[in-house]
Amino acid sequence: MAVLSTPNKIILFTAVVLVLLTLGFYMRRDIFMTVPFPVLQKNLNATRILVCGGAGYIGSHLVRELSTQPDYEIIIVDNLSKGHKKSIPKGIKFEKADIRDKLALDRIFSKYKPDAVMHFCASISVGESVADPLGYYENNVAGTIYLLQTMKRHNVKYFIFSSSAAIFGNAKEVPIPDDAQPNPINPYGYTKFVVENILASSENAYGLKYICLRYFNACGAHESGDIGEDHHPETHLIPLVLQVALGQRDSISIFGDDYETKDGTCVRDYIHVTDLATAHIRALEYLVKENKSQSFNLGSGEGYSVKEVINAARNVTGHPIPDIVEARRIGDPAVLIAKSTRAEKILGWKRKYNTIESIVASAWKYHKTHINGYND
Ligand SMILES: NC(=O)c1ccc[n+]([C@@H]2O[C@H](COP(=O)([O-])OP(=O)(O)OC[C@H]3O[C@@H](n4cnc5c(N)ncnc54)[C@H](O)[C@@H]3O)[C@@H](O)[C@H]2O)c1
Repeated sequence: MAVLSTPNKIILFTAVVLVLLTLGFYMRRDIFMTVPFPVLQKNLNATRILVCGGAGYIGSHLVRELSTQPDYEIIIVDNLSKGHKKSIPKGIKFEKADIRDKLALDRIFSKYKPDAVMHFCASISVGESVADPLGYYENNVAGTIYLLQTMKRHNVKYFIFSSSAAIFGNAKEVPIPDDAQPNPINPYGYTKFVVENILASSENAYGLKYICLRYFNACGAHESGDIGEDHHPETHLIPLVLQVALGQRDSISIFGDDYETKDGTCVRDYIHVTDLATAHIRALEYLVKENKSQSFNLGSGEGYSVKEVINAARNVTGHPIPDIVEARRIGDPAVLIAKSTRAEKILGWKRKYNTIESIVASAWKYHKTHINGYND
């Protein structure tokens, strides 16, 4: 090949640079287009995360995990309707506010200029949602709309949403795959499904980038035993079983022992709250790096029956934990288990808590030192 003269070398070099720039522009044209949500220009260093609902059960565990990493600055927003101020670690910024209060949201966004929002706020009881659907749609759907509108006004583009297994209803395929068709069967599940749809539309219209994390049964407590589950009223199996071990209840009710399962009782997918927290951090990293919206199931892929959970609690606590078999509850599916293939493959998410004993033991560590929860 003939040796190029210097002017020709310059022309060739310039042409190559131009082709590369054009290709780069085409591949990342979203950065250059004027969209209401601009792409985060900085890397993850000192990313400011607004954690809405960060004083609640799952949010407080996310805050613990995130606060161990120096690259994040955390601001918690919570109206403390169900959350606990005592769960907030010292030094973490906290704003007591309701996400349905637009003025308060505007003030908080102006003050802290967050880069991303993690949204845990919701009313979370299926039974209550049947009795008060309007209240549930107002808090879970309208509240989320106000939050998204504020993000849009303040050019915040990244959103991580606490969705739920409840969007799947009585799934046709179990374990439920990530791409199963949502089919909620109660107002709570619908509120989560509606928000997932609002997020998809907001991406199309405004360039919002979001991740929906569909949790199965969140359970367990932080390994320190400092924070844990304290819902009022408590409806979740593990804290209820441990209340029997603490002498706060005489027995635990088993609703139906004639299901077509290994021992006749309902089978559920129990996922440790710290494993959920780490999934949020992986999800945020993915969202900022790939700039791609996605939904992930977060479950264990394994199911434990109600009897197995009670037996695990007997082993962990050494208490006999009497049980009483009652009639089936309407609307309880026999088996609910999730495949979390997408989170494992795409986020590289790995669970730390792999047995029901280890999950119950972590919850027990919290409950036996916090007999009345946060006592607030
Ligand atoms: N716990 C589970 O097993 C589970 C399973 C699937 C999905 N989820 C979802 O995960 C999220 C967190 O659940 P959790 O168990 O931690 O519930 P939680 O009640 O302990 O936490 C929710 C927090 O949000 C706050 N909050 C509620 N409405 C608010 C509002 N309008 N303004 C400001 N703060 C508000 C509450 O005070 C509370 O601190 C919820 O969105 C829930 O639907 C939970």
